[in-house]
Amino acid sequence: MPDSTSDNTPRPPRRKRYSGKNPRCFEDKYKEHQQDPETLAKVTASGKTPAGTHIPVLLPEILGILAIRPGETAADLTLGYGGHATALLTDVQPGGRLIALDVDPIELPRTEARLRSLGFPDETLTVQRSNFAGLPKVLATLGLTGVDALLADLGVSSMQIDNPTRGFSFKTEGPLDMRLNPERGQPASALLASITPQKLAALLHENADEPRAFLLADALAGKTLPTTRSLTEALRLLTPDPDEAEATFPRVFQALRITVNEEFTALDTLLRHLPQCINPGGRVAILTFHSGEDRRVKKALAAGLANETWSSISETVIRPTPTEQHKNPRSSSAKLRWAIRAW
Ligand SMILES: C[S@@+](CC[C@H](N)C(=O)[O-])C[C@H]1O[C@@H](n2cnc3c(N)ncnc32)[C@H](O)[C@@H]1O
Repeated sequence: MPDSTSDNTPRPPRRKRYSGKNPRCFEDKYKEHQQDPETLAKVTASGKTPAGTHIPVLLPEILGILAIRPGETAADLTLGYGGHATALLTDVQPGGRLIALDVDPIELPRTEARLRSLGFPDETLTVQRSNFAGLPKVLATLGLTGVDALLADLGVSSMQIDNPTRGFSFKTEGPLDMRLNPERGQPASALLASITPQKLAALLHENADEPRAFLLADALAGKTLPTTRSLTEALRLLTPDPDEAEATFPRVFQALRITVNEEFTALDTLLRHLPQCINPGGRVAILTFHSGEDRRVKKALAAGLANETWSSISETVIRPTPTEQHKNPRSSSAKLRWAIRAW
């Protein structure tokens, strides 16, 4: 009889114990990371985004605007978790293709693997790690003169926000990094350590409409604040009123994130190149999450309508319904605009 006690098969590591009924730390949410369907449904029903996932915003509205026909070529410039991309990939079948871009080297391979496992023909999906500012170059490399439908869902994904090691959230402790592509540029902590008060005040004002930009900039510029917590603690000292602090933290984090990733430069470049990347009759949908982005999109589309690049554009902004905002609070600030390329 073999001795069961002498079995040398390595045992799987024991799961870390957490206190309380439900895991609170990102890493401990193993059922969500493993995409356990029951857990995902429970977390989603409670108005939260399961760890390691992202809920696509205004999905039916975007699909209606893009009105993709089988055989067309679509582009998702901000692949993220691939929620929108899955629907676009479905709509281009049979015979069409989806070009998907993202700058994030950590999430992109995971999303590509997930999309490839869905069973679509391999050649119908092209995934490229690229900034969308380089869209004309990507299309030229693929031998394409334009696409028939294009989506840009700006900003950060829930996976990025919720992962404390990325440093995007003031709610969790982690390195003050905030780079969408951690292989490029400098982390937010290095930016703060080297910036002048004048420059910091300007970016707090321009990127997040921060009303106390000068006061905060004077106190924070040139400081060594290596972690998200060190920044929130510094902010708390400057903002004793809890309600004011609750509004200040997200504004300061947003302003730093936009700067670290040069988000406005990327968006301005995309908007400049956009007309040449869309086939005649092609449709564009752009989802923004704050006024600095929306102002740029609105202005660029209006200018394109005036010079007859676009045959029509959205007259007003499309917002998530109260039901969508309730189910997915992260959709609350979303604004959708669209345009159709003239023939
Ligand atoms: C809001 S998420 C997209 C979510 C996606 N629509 C989904 O359904 O899962 C935004 C994504 O855009 C990416 N991103 C932001 N700026 C970018 C840029 N300039 N070029 C390419 N990707 C960018 C981020 O890394 C992030 O993954």
